[in-house]
Amino acid sequence: MEIKPFRCKTEDLTPGMVTVGIVRSPSGQEILMPGTRLTKFLITRLVYYKVESADVLIPPTETIAIPPSAVFTEQEEEPKPPVEPVAPKEPEPPAGLSDEELTISPYEDEEKPTPAPAPKPVEEAKSRITVAPMPQTAVFKNTEVKPKETRILKATDKIVAPTGIGGTVNPTYSQAVKRSEKFKTYETEFAIVLAQMSESFPKIARGEMSIHPEEAIEGVKHLFKMIPTSIERFDMIHNMRENDDAVYAHSLNVAMIARQIAVWLKLPDEEVDVVTLAGIYHDIGKLKVPIEILNKTEKLTDDEFKLLRNHPMYGMEILKRQDIDVRVKKAAVQHHERSDGSGYPRGLMDWEIEDESYLIALADVYEAMTAKRAFRAPLSPFQVIAEFEKNGFSLYKTEYLLTFMKQIAKTYQNNRIMLNNGASANIVLLNENRLSKPVVQLNDGTCIDLSNSNLYIQALI
Ligand SMILES: [Fe+2]
Repeated sequence: MEIKPFRCKTEDLTPGMVTVGIVRSPSGQEILMPGTRLTKFLITRLVYYKVESADVLIPPTETIAIPPSAVFTEQEEEPKPPVEPVAPKEPEPPAGLSDEELTISPYEDEEKPTPAPAPKPVEEAKSRITVAPMPQTAVFKNTEVKPKETRILKATDKIVAPTGIGGTVNPTYSQAVKRSEKFKTYETEFAIVLAQMSESFPKIARGEMSIHPEEAIEGVKHLFKMIPTSIERFDMIHNMRENDDAVYAHSLNVAMIARQIAVWLKLPDEEVDVVTLAGIYHDIGKLKVPIEILNKTEKLTDDEFKLLRNHPMYGMEILKRQDIDVRVKKAAVQHHERSDGSGYPRGLMDWEIEDESYLIALADVYEAMTAKRAFRAPLSPFQVIAEFEKNGFSLYKTEYLLTFMKQIAKTYQNNRIMLNNGASANIVLLNENRLSKPVVQLNDGTCIDLSNSNLYIQALI
């Protein structure tokens, strides 16, 4: 049977159709390449970019009706062969939770959370720098340190801290990231994924919509692929804070971080996808918490606090009937549990908490700590690492925590930072025994081993 391409209005496009030729936005931006098999997410992108129509074909394996508005055109060129459509996956057996988990009683603990204490000054003054190799281009005096990965911005002396001592009026790193073309594209694509989440979450919470795992993670996979290095991904995540809603932007960021951690841990692809899905839905229970409580910036009352701390159970309630991997359901109910039993809602102990729940917990805590809050400025990744060094080993899975801390620190090796005394510097050498306290080089070329100093890294710049 001959497969004829046709022009189809965007509103009539259907998942399974395959593009013929490049699909461009009205401003000429390339949105889809030839041979792309359309999905709901990709069609949403075309709508978002105001694409009016696309040349497509229906591969013989698909059973899609050609829409009445289709216009068959003689192709001057032979269309490129469509990408082999992905065979539908065997549906997984319905995943369930144990009876105990399905009948979990509401959270009763009224204990208040203790706010994260400010990082303490260094007590020890022993130099233990041994492991991280000196970057080939790093020289301790008056020499620029070359970044290892291609960055949106290179660390140059022209960028100084906002409260820098030099008084130069230059953009901060964060402002410069936000002005970059890459960030603007990411912001647009992020908004598309968010729009999909904010449309589907309420329906899922009301039990009116089934979760299709592959569709649900497609947006995150797309964002992940479009920003190819971990350092740039974190640049994007740290700066994607304008969409400061209580659930969607946070969940999307957590999904991105969780996927990155899973990649760092070299987990199998299937598990990377499960963890991504778990990141997306870990806080879906917050949809059952009144919005006034979620958005309240003043101190919560005891009753409000209790309601908020019910969200892991609400999440499990919402997800339990969904035909998705049980690890995703467990991550929703367990992501606030901690290995020493201090977490909630059930105060589970180490051996009772699933690996995926630990991974989501790490991503969740990192996202929350590096975000700006009404009562505090965002913490730098190194302040988060300092916090993990102090308390993390009794709270999270050691193997995951170590990998996460090492990789985050490695991500910012050679990065430009601001110390808590306002001075700007470059990170030149990591200290594997004290990852929050690397050796930094000041503008005048002097190096400071932070593990021998009360100084700490307050911000990336
Ligand atoms: Fe949560």
